[in-house]
Amino acid sequence: MCAPIYFSYFIFFNLFFCCALCIVHVFHIFGTLSFAAEDQQVLVTEEEFPEVKVDFQETFLGHNSPISRCRFSASGSNIASSSIDGTVRIWTYDSSTASSRNATIYCGSEVSALSWECRSDRLLLIGTANGGIKAWNADAKRVVCDLSTSRNFPSILDLKCSPVEPVFVSAAASRRHGSTTFERTGFANLTVWHMKTWKPLTVLPLGEDPPAITSLCFNHNGKILAASATDGMIHMFDMSAGLQITGWPAHDSPVSSVLFGPAETSIFSLGSDGKILEWSLHNQGQILWSRDCSRFCNPESFKTRMHEIALDSNGKRLLVTSGLVRAPIYQVQGHESELRTLPHSSSITSVDWHPTLPMYITGSADHSVRVTSIL
Ligand SMILES: *[C@@H]1O[C@H](CO)[C@@H](O)[C@H](O)[C@H]1NC(C)=O
Ligand SMILES: *[C@@H]1O[C@H](CO)[C@@H](O)[C@H](O)[C@H]1NC(C)=O
Repeated sequence: MCAPIYFSYFIFFNLFFCCALCIVHVFHIFGTLSFAAEDQQVLVTEEEFPEVKVDFQETFLGHNSPISRCRFSASGSNIASSSIDGTVRIWTYDSSTASSRNATIYCGSEVSALSWECRSDRLLLIGTANGGIKAWNADAKRVVCDLSTSRNFPSILDLKCSPVEPVFVSAAASRRHGSTTFERTGFANLTVWHMKTWKPLTVLPLGEDPPAITSLCFNHNGKILAASATDGMIHMFDMSAGLQITGWPAHDSPVSSVLFGPAETSIFSLGSDGKILEWSLHNQGQILWSRDCSRFCNPESFKTRMHEIALDSNGKRLLVTSGLVRAPIYQVQGHESELRTLPHSSSITSVDWHPTLPMYITGSADHSVRVTSIL
């Protein structure tokens, strides 16, 4: 106890020796404190989640720059991954399945969004940071559409295919000066496109000079679209009417990612404050579940990229990208403990779950993509 810095530790020690019950309380408040009694020092360490139990893990090393997105196809047998040098690769993790769709696509600009068609593994939509949207036919192995969005909205932040109709939605943003990802995204343009004519069908209304939309999610029948915005709002659209049905302020900071919950009775959102919230859709504004994941998605890591969340096929586990080499896996239902993934050698920039199996992919700034099957 020689320096002022130890003062608060000193209080902990007193508590420790005086009142065993109090220390239990202190543990609850401050997370994990580890005591090294011999040298009379208290180390406040980061709380550690146990490591996930892995059945197998495969590492794909086909990219030469940080991974921007990785996505399982509708059946789960193909994976598309992209890197910031503008390369998209389609590959399989399982050498026993047909890998006739393997391909490398050069887009000439950073790939910022990937979305597979929902009912087959045939079409992959690719969005770039310079306003380009390409559709790749994975069977014919060619680009079947190569369009540019309005020049005023050159950043494609997300693309999503409808699970039912032959349409997709693009979330594009105007650009402005700024030092962080969010400061550089300006106003939103949310356009619905037809997937046969490749022409815009409607522009979804968001009001005058709307803050950028960062992430999109359809419900199971494609009738409702959820969209998250940089002003902290979540918007919901009725796709048949092409109108906004509701919206609410979800975070005090930009929302980075939005997802429908498993029974579609809730919506998950990740704010750039590192908070994950689950919102009731029956009782608007009610929070059903929440986690503070700012240790993995800290404000510093949001400066360079948006983080994303992914739910497994039965809606029980939520995987989040991470500024650290490991990503957290939260248990949304049940009482199992939270887990962390095996490490990459740099931050985890994109995540996705297999559509049916307990298996996820993690893309990293270390250029690799890992497929992990868990027990
Ligand atoms: C497709 O890619 C996977 C993963 O890189 C590889 O194992 C497989 O051999 C490739 N198949 C073909 C036909 O190139
Ligand atoms: C939004 O983007 C679509 C598709 O690029 C374009 O047709 C439309 O004019 C844009 N809206 C505005 C307000 O610029």
